[in-house]
Amino acid sequence: MLVSTFRNHFNKELSEIYPATEIDSFFFLLIEEELGLQRIDLALTTQLTISEEKFKYLYNALSRLKAQEPIQYILRKTEFYGLQFNVTKDTLIPRPETEELVDWILTENKQLHASKKINILDIGTGTGCIAISLAKNLPNANVTAIDISKEALLIAKENALANNNVGITFIEADVLALKSLPSKFDIIVSNPPYVRELEKKEIKPNVLENEPHLALFVDDNNPLLFYKKIAELAKNHLTTNGKLFFEINQYLGKETLAMLNEVGYTTELRKDIFGNDRMIKSTC
Ligand SMILES: C[S@@+](CC[C@H](N)C(=O)[O-])C[C@H]1O[C@@H](n2cnc3c(N)ncnc32)[C@H](O)[C@@H]1O
Repeated sequence: MLVSTFRNHFNKELSEIYPATEIDSFFFLLIEEELGLQRIDLALTTQLTISEEKFKYLYNALSRLKAQEPIQYILRKTEFYGLQFNVTKDTLIPRPETEELVDWILTENKQLHASKKINILDIGTGTGCIAISLAKNLPNANVTAIDISKEALLIAKENALANNNVGITFIEADVLALKSLPSKFDIIVSNPPYVRELEKKEIKPNVLENEPHLALFVDDNNPLLFYKKIAELAKNHLTTNGKLFFEINQYLGKETLAMLNEVGYTTELRKDIFGNDRMIKSTC
């Protein structure tokens, strides 16, 4: 089959679900991944053909897109902070808001810790996107990352060593059950589950039906449980001048600040590029 014939079919099948620019972007991502073709290759010749095997892959990708599966799961990878990450259904797809959190941490600490050895802990690491981006940009840091999900940790390990060539200590643990942390840290960071069940109706079906609920949801009656537990653990495990960074639920900025102040932290809240309350830095 001609690539151009498949493209027409692809556009037609997806036109009622996605905007044209997004369909284009899906198409080029898929043909680059599977056929090694760039946009320019298609512009130069209209006679490119697809083998039966490649056609099967593209057709399967098309039906998954029709079912609104995120393109990152179809490609099994994504980019975060300029780095390559594998993703599976056991890992949350890293979000741009989280890149903003990483950027805040790096802006504050890159110069300060350019030569000094520091210890960093990432709680609820998922793909390892926060831990790995920090390790990559702070070569003197010892980075430890915790997650409850064995499956997510397998992906995070691939992302650290095979994809990004950084050494991270990964620990499988339920943070809610921990009585202490493995050592003292200069930076503790977490993007824990924070979406309340009552917010489910705002979540797009492609997220709800595909991304791991373990990574997303918390009980309506206790939405700050991860924040409170981590804040209490961090209280005894931050070095002098140590900092605790959180990504937060945009609707719970005030409540999260109040809880952190009550535990004894001085706090700074920042908004994301969309103007939503999104991250907090806490110091003792
Ligand atoms: C919102 S995701 C964040 C993933 C990644 N850090 C990111 O920013 O994309 C939350 C992560 O916390 C993990 N998690 C959920 N409950 C946990 C628990 N009790 N202890 C440790 N990790 C937990 C999930 O498996 C998931 O990887």
